[in-house]
Amino acid sequence: MKQIATLIFPAMMLLGAAASASANPFPNGNPQTGEKLFAQYNCNQCHNAIMGGDGNKIFTRPNRIRNTPEGLIEQIGICSGNVKAHFTPQETQDIASYLNIFYKFK
Ligand code: HEC
Repeated sequence: MKQIATLIFPAMMLLGAAASASANPFPNGNPQTGEKLFAQYNCNQCHNAIMGGDGNKIFTRPNRIRNTPEGLIEQIGICSGNVKAHFTPQETQDIASYLNIFYKFK
């Protein structure tokens, strides 16, 4: 028993350290799935027009409206109405983790 404890405890310490070092705000999101959903629902259709071509620039424009992970989640909820999507919490996390390649929230 004592042996097991001495093995498990350092493993837990390591896991904890890894989690805090990466500090991903969307740890349960799958960015690949998010990218697919974003493309499937043609999310950039309006953003392309707004940004004059490259819709992705809306996520990095200096006056962007969302500057926190919570705000990003909220905006995905708002914009999902634009494409008549009803994303599950999991899908919302997936899209957020994909969009975080632009937002770079830690
Ligand atoms: C009908 C048009 C339209 C569609 C479709 C649309 N959006 Fe948007 N989106 C907007 C507009 C307009 C803004 C900017 C709002 C502002 O500047 O106040 C925006 C802004 C955003 C932002 C915030 C950008 C910032 O400044 O930080 C995110 C994130 C976003 N959209 C995600 C999505 C996602 C995800 C989808 C697909 C599910 C989507 N949008 C589809 C119109 C749209």
